[in-house]
Amino acid sequence: MKLSEIHYSNKFDDLDSQLKNFINQEKHVIFIDSKLSSIINLDPKFKTFEIEINESTKDLNTIQKIWKIMFSESLDRSSKIIGIGGGVLSDLVGFATSTFKRGANLSLVPSTFLGMVDAAHGGKTGFNNEFGKNQIGTFFIPEKIFICTEFLDSLSEIEMNNGIIESLKAGFLGDKEIIEMIYQDKLNNLEEIIKKSIQVKYNILKNDLRESNERMFLNLGHTIGHLIEKDSNYSISHGQAVGIGMLKGFEISESKFNLNSSIRDEFKSFLNKQSMKTEYSFNSSQSELKEIISNDKKVTSDVVKFVLIKNIQEPVLIDFSINDLLEVLTNA
Ligand code: GLY
Repeated sequence: MKLSEIHYSNKFDDLDSQLKNFINQEKHVIFIDSKLSSIINLDPKFKTFEIEINESTKDLNTIQKIWKIMFSESLDRSSKIIGIGGGVLSDLVGFATSTFKRGANLSLVPSTFLGMVDAAHGGKTGFNNEFGKNQIGTFFIPEKIFICTEFLDSLSEIEMNNGIIESLKAGFLGDKEIIEMIYQDKLNNLEEIIKKSIQVKYNILKNDLRESNERMFLNLGHTIGHLIEKDSNYSISHGQAVGIGMLKGFEISESKFNLNSSIRDEFKSFLNKQSMKTEYSFNSSQSELKEIISNDKKVTSDVVKFVLIKNIQEPVLIDFSINDLLEVLTNA
């Protein structure tokens, strides 16, 4: 299976040149999150369309707007469709492209740290409907991903932490140097951290794109994290929620696999250093939490595929009954 080709740059001018070379006067459209238009000035010759992006516009209505533009620009399967934005934009533009004429040519420019290290890679696309988040979607690998680290200059602390937690997750799954670099505050070398995090993900994707096995490792911290996000009505950020989820996962790994408790202690100190919370009390009742977990795409017959680690770089999937999971969450 062919994974995306990645191009790096540090400055928007270089990204602009990379896009010019790639488009090479061929038929194309660029969809950009409207919030980014004041941050990046693209060459006016590009056919650029701004899309209003937030969790509440992540719906079929926006997909239809995107399809409409594709038709009005007379695009065909070989036209170059480029999405510039965070995870919501890449999910939407990815879905619309994967279904346009049964699949056109997608490339992504992630504008967030989280997008650069995780969301843009691996072809997950989708949108929300009344049945939940990303319940309709496809796996559709972008041809190219352009990573420009100048986007990081304008990110908030919360957005930076979203990416740092996802990079740490990659470190725990497959590359302990990422953990060392982040704990030692080597954040001036973000490009190296991004490259290493992507490599961990690609090593997993090449064996299991459709998430039937190994790809589930990428959910380390996410089962509990998603519950926290939902329970808090999304007032808790993704990184913060996944951070607490990983901490709880390490605690369970200690009791099930004798994981050295220093791993949890060091991670907890790191969260404290970032002024991130290390605990969360759920507002929902047990039956409401059960309902939320049951709607998770990774749950079958009341069993959650839950990711733990036996050690750093040794992830493992266990089957957790929803009831057992709820029990350990009482004091997440
Ligand atoms: N973000 C997890 C995955 O791509 O599977």
